[in-house]
Amino acid sequence: MHMSHGSTAVIAEISAGLLAPAAHISPKFLYDGLGSKLFEAICELPEYYPTRTEAAIFAAHGAEIARVVGDGATLIDLGAGNCAKAGSLFPLLHPAQYVPVDISREFLLGAVAQLQQRFPHIEMTALGLDFSSGFTLPDSVRKAHRVFFYPGSSIGNFTPEQAVSFLRGLRANRGSDGGLLIGVDLVKDHEVLDAAYDDPLGVTAAFNLNLLRHVNHLAGADFDVAQWKHIAYFDFERSRIEMHVEARCALTVHWNGGERRFERGERIHTENSYKYTRQSFATLLERAGFATTRTWTDDDQWFAVIHARAIPD
Ligand code: AVJ
Repeated sequence: MHMSHGSTAVIAEISAGLLAPAAHISPKFLYDGLGSKLFEAICELPEYYPTRTEAAIFAAHGAEIARVVGDGATLIDLGAGNCAKAGSLFPLLHPAQYVPVDISREFLLGAVAQLQQRFPHIEMTALGLDFSSGFTLPDSVRKAHRVFFYPGSSIGNFTPEQAVSFLRGLRANRGSDGGLLIGVDLVKDHEVLDAAYDDPLGVTAAFNLNLLRHVNHLAGADFDVAQWKHIAYFDFERSRIEMHVEARCALTVHWNGGERRFERGERIHTENSYKYTRQSFATLLERAGFATTRTWTDDDQWFAVIHARAIPD
């Protein structure tokens, strides 16, 4: 058996997913060191429009977005990473406090230290935690004018039901008043969607298959990446991109505490990326206790940046 480097909880989660009748692995395991670099490469692809389109919306409407958000916010950046997106908005937004939240604390602390040099007057409070499974903000986070910043359409990784409970959790953390500035990928022509998730250069394929290497490391599994292929397509009914890895031949995978045989053509579901319409997302926000204040889009209406405020009880 290979070495496993994941915690027992992580191995148990991976094992349960692999043993389920429809095998699945959580998309959070896409992001090891190489996976994060491959995602950065995806963002450079001409076919992957979300990153570039969202940036163009902020560039075109930044001043107006800042007016709607208002000065002196407590800006809570969910999945801050290198803090670059939020940082580029500071000259317009003038937040009083910046609260980047990310699962990888080490990485975050380095990025925040650099940002603090450039913006010495903004109070910065970095939080290293997994916000996807519910959280409570500590007392070091100001209660006034909280604004949750959730760009990049990462909300699409949740099912709509999960997204509602996630947003309800944000609302519960709203302090004295709460706003939300969120990036949402919109439904569009399926050719555009399919190409964005199955690019001809194979970068997304490498990103998806790298998950198997990561699982080998975490769970001591023996996936042979060469035996699997990348599958991604838009499912109209569910309004989501699905990513899978598909076995090229019959094979057996072993890991720390389990094994499973896969027939040729059998798949492991690795990610969903939900696409919304302006209306369907407004309805989702309402279910979570938020009211849409403004929506900004690009000319093609491929992507939306939405501001919403928490409806008081
Ligand atoms: C980081 C979740 C927004 O769903 O578009 C990119 C991840 N997956 N290509 C997305 C992803 C395949 C991305 N998010």
